Amino acid sequence: MDKEYLLAPGPTPVPPEILLAMAGPIIHHRAPVYEQILEEVREGLKYLFQTKNEVLIFASSGTGAMEGTVTNTLCAGDKALVVEGGKFGERWTGICKAFGINARAISVPWGRSVDPGAIARALEQDPELKAVFVQATETSTGALFPIREIGAIVSRYPGALLVVDGISHLGAQELPMDEWKLDVVVCGSQKALMLPPGLAFAALSDKAWDFVEKSTLPKYYFNFKKELKNITKNQSAYTPAISLILGLAQSLRMIRREGLENIFARHARLARATRAAMKAIGLALYAPEAGANSMTAVLTPSGIDGQKVVKILRDKHHLTIAGGQDQAKGKIFRLAHLGYVNPFDVIMGVAAVEMTLKELGYDFELGKGVKTAMEVFME
Ligand SMILES: Cc1ncc(COP(=O)(O)O)c(C=O)c1O
Repeated sequence: MDKEYLLAPGPTPVPPEILLAMAGPIIHHRAPVYEQILEEVREGLKYLFQTKNEVLIFASSGTGAMEGTVTNTLCAGDKALVVEGGKFGERWTGICKAFGINARAISVPWGRSVDPGAIARALEQDPELKAVFVQATETSTGALFPIREIGAIVSRYPGALLVVDGISHLGAQELPMDEWKLDVVVCGSQKALMLPPGLAFAALSDKAWDFVEKSTLPKYYFNFKKELKNITKNQSAYTPAISLILGLAQSLRMIRREGLENIFARHARLARATRAAMKAIGLALYAPEAGANSMTAVLTPSGIDGQKVVKILRDKHHLTIAGGQDQAKGKIFRLAHLGYVNPFDVIMGVAAVEMTLKELGYDFELGKGVKTAMEVFME
């Protein structure tokens, strides 16, 4: 029997309660029964995003909410600053370019975090900057960005928005939108929300809604004003992904039941055990100073191809993790501990990595990583 395991930084495993919630008959989205569910979902999303404002929901992958944020808050020719520290930072630049935004990058070496001072200086030097785009966790490198500090800086500029991609971060690690003065936070369903891919979310501050009023870029499906009007009536402009919304309602119930503080503590513990296990077998982390709690990016030992590690794990051990992308391809593997994950998933993941590295000829004491992870969990 080939039992499959998933420890990728998205999509992530979906719990049975959520699978069951999505398996029921399709209800109609213009019916009271759906509106009741959406009302509950709206409250749950506000709890998750830690905001008093509405959280918009779209039937798309997370990138849809990223694109929608650009087209709903900015105007052609606007200047923006993008923190580029990996593949998803580059995505902000790509979207800005596609819509005629004049985007300038703050380049951050992959695996490193950004210096908030660089953002402060850029805003000081160019008063025309309308937005700062950043990731909370840069999934391609596993690095965490100092969003709280960046929020404190950007909030001093009434003419600039702070847009945070929380897709692989929200619901795993702290990102209190209102408290940290974040103007837009976007997310996707297939990460900490423990859902299949297919839903994107965007929450906007009052300041961001003012930008929406003035935005002239073309938009149709991703029309934030239209969706805001609809969601306050427990509706959506177009046919929603009904099954995923039913799953979302269940996911948000589970998140509330566990509590955000406990969820963050669980992810921190899983991350601590994974990092300690990898170090115990002599491996170095790709983002040693700023590792996110949702995933751990690990440098493969010299002479071993990281892609091969990922392939053996998938084909022989039936465990899916992620490899490196672009400049990190072949150099790293990324072990996620995101969403529906507990200590024994980490122990299994570490064991599978150890077996694979041994097969590839890496010299270390087999079992040392697993032992270390177990010790962290027993603390
Ligand atoms: C940080 C980050 N941003 C954006 C995306 C893109 O999301 P999607 O693939 O759902 O469009 C991802 C997905 O992996 C991500 O991790």
